Amino acid sequence: MLTSLAQDLKLALDRISFARKAGLEPDSWQRDFLNSSSDRVLLNCCRQSGKSTMTAIVALHRALYHPGSLILCLAPALRQSQELFGKVLGFYRDLGRPVSPQGERKLSLELENDSRIVTLPGTEKTIRGFSGAALLIVDEASRVADELYFAVRPMLAVSGGTLMMLSTPYGKRGIFFEEWSQGEGWERYEVPARECPRISVSFLDEEKRALPARVYRQEYECSFEDTEDQVFSFEDVTGALDPVVTPLFGNEGIGS
Ligand SMILES: Nc1ncnc2c1ncn2[C@@H]1O[C@H](COP(=O)(O)OP(=O)(O)OP(=O)(O)O)[C@@H](O)[C@H]1O
Ligand SMILES: [Mg+2]
Repeated sequence: MLTSLAQDLKLALDRISFARKAGLEPDSWQRDFLNSSSDRVLLNCCRQSGKSTMTAIVALHRALYHPGSLILCLAPALRQSQELFGKVLGFYRDLGRPVSPQGERKLSLELENDSRIVTLPGTEKTIRGFSGAALLIVDEASRVADELYFAVRPMLAVSGGTLMMLSTPYGKRGIFFEEWSQGEGWERYEVPARECPRISVSFLDEEKRALPARVYRQEYECSFEDTEDQVFSFEDVTGALDPVVTPLFGNEGIGS
């Protein structure tokens, strides 16, 4: 009895032990992420590095051990948020439903301890109405429309909840790129494919041969590439700005 209590206390306090209980041996960056108590996290990780899996573990841990938590899963499209939620549900079932379900549905899980995990559709009009989120997870964040991001942020306002955005890069545009490159207050994780023990060197060599160089850098090297239809590179444009040069029409001319 005492051992199982001690064991449960360990799982409540230590998310790495919880991940192991769910059958995963976390990689080095995953251990840092699971140990983190930051409430603003950006994961810029290559394809298949385990970013959705690890946030699913964090989401489930939060729901089980912090009664009354509202956890929201968001992605550019419902199908993608559903995939993240599916991972949460999978771990919940594998672990033998440690807290009983009150409602176990396709898009949400409600627990007896009043915690809820909800999948949000990727459209701005239908998501308003949630508030007091303890944890908001934005998966595939580089492809989430800015308006959607602006619409979900207030859901954390009163609760002081945690925001996690995870993605593989998708060009030098959008909110994920902006937050990654100049946002303040974020804890950042960058995980290229060569650091993922489940992706072999020979597979990466093959991908390198098969994909255009910029696509390879984006998918496997965490690189924010210039978009294809861009005439000038991001660096060219910012490099061309010279603070010494005075604009021809000055600022007071604008709009007048
Ligand atoms: N520490 C780990 N131990 C074993 N398997 C892992 C671990 N982390 C992730 N995986 C497995 O790696 C695969 C990819 O994980 P996941 O889907 O979370 O990656 P992702 O970064 O979200 O990928 P994508 O960019 O394609 O969405 C899954 O099969 C997952 O179970
Ligand atoms: Mg994923």
